[in-house]
Amino acid sequence: MKKRILTGLQPSGTLHIGNYFGSLKPLVDLTHDENNEVYLMVADYHALTSVRDGALLKQYIYDIVRDYLAAGVDPKKVTLFRQSDNQYHMELGWVLNCLVTVPFLMQAHSYKDKVAKGLEANAGLFTYPMLMAADIVLYDIDVVPVGEDQRQHLEYTREAVTKFNNAYGNVLKEPKELIVNGVGVVPGTDGQKMSKSYKNTIPLFGTTEEIHKAVMSIVTDSSGNRPENVYNIHKTVYRALGKSEPELVELYEANAGKYKILKDTLAADIETLVAPMRAKRESITDEEIKAVLKDGADKAKAYAANKMHTVRQTIGIAL
Ligand code: ADP
Ligand code: TRP
Repeated sequence: MKKRILTGLQPSGTLHIGNYFGSLKPLVDLTHDENNEVYLMVADYHALTSVRDGALLKQYIYDIVRDYLAAGVDPKKVTLFRQSDNQYHMELGWVLNCLVTVPFLMQAHSYKDKVAKGLEANAGLFTYPMLMAADIVLYDIDVVPVGEDQRQHLEYTREAVTKFNNAYGNVLKEPKELIVNGVGVVPGTDGQKMSKSYKNTIPLFGTTEEIHKAVMSIVTDSSGNRPENVYNIHKTVYRALGKSEPELVELYEANAGKYKILKDTLAADIETLVAPMRAKRESITDEEIKAVLKDGADKAKAYAANKMHTVRQTIGIAL
């Protein structure tokens, strides 16, 4: 029996190398394991809780699919589809909403954090966890790879499954989270965690010049011989290129204090890593993306239709 895996991808803009090492690469690696049956879903309905510019959302959807294909997702082996192409997500989301309480949803960290950051407390944001639960249980998923921030959403999913199964019998499967840690935290150009909100990123699919410029802006500390901010990013890139860390240590010792040379080397190494992906990315047309998503939607809907049929019978709306 294959392990059934699904994750949702937020269509929310340009990726940086922190996203690549922390989440995209480990996920792409999972899709290469023959024992896994993987679903990758573009969570565009979830994005509506915060994006209110239609042209922008459409662009984000194309971008995220292009990014994953460029990073090595093979659409023949993975079901890559859009949430909004399969209406069963909405339908099951409603059913689950009818099983959980308002006080329960009010305790969700993600909801509280977003509202604290000034996001509008719209009802979509509030019921977000039950749509996410539907995304997962529609496909009898065993494992959900997510970042640490999504752990509680998986607890909410299990709670919804328990409520459903207690009320109606054993129909929905309980999923487990797989916390994707990748290589740990990749620091940004200022030494803090690389994050789009801190404006300290190195863009994953930037041009050679953009990458070089970002690398040159890495803050160096003149107190030691080794510029740690440069070294820490370099270490991660080096490993991904299959090179050994002792070799990197030597490089930094041989060029002690020569920040320009070390930064140029880092920029060149990032270039070696991303150039093939960037070329692939540029070759993917919108038409191809639409075809991949259509195919994925057909496969996803076929599975979900069966599941939803059972749910409908169980809850008494299949006459
Ligand atoms: P950002 O902080 O730029 O807004 P997100 O919160 O959208 O990034 O993160 C998307 C995914 O990328 C998360 O699953 C997270 O684990 C990973 N990620 C983001 N920044 C880093 C980083 N600096 N190092 C490692 N992984 C990261
Ligand atoms: N909430 C997830 C995030 O913000 C995205 C998501 C939506 C998801 N549906 C999902 C993740 C289902 C895993 C499974 O990253």
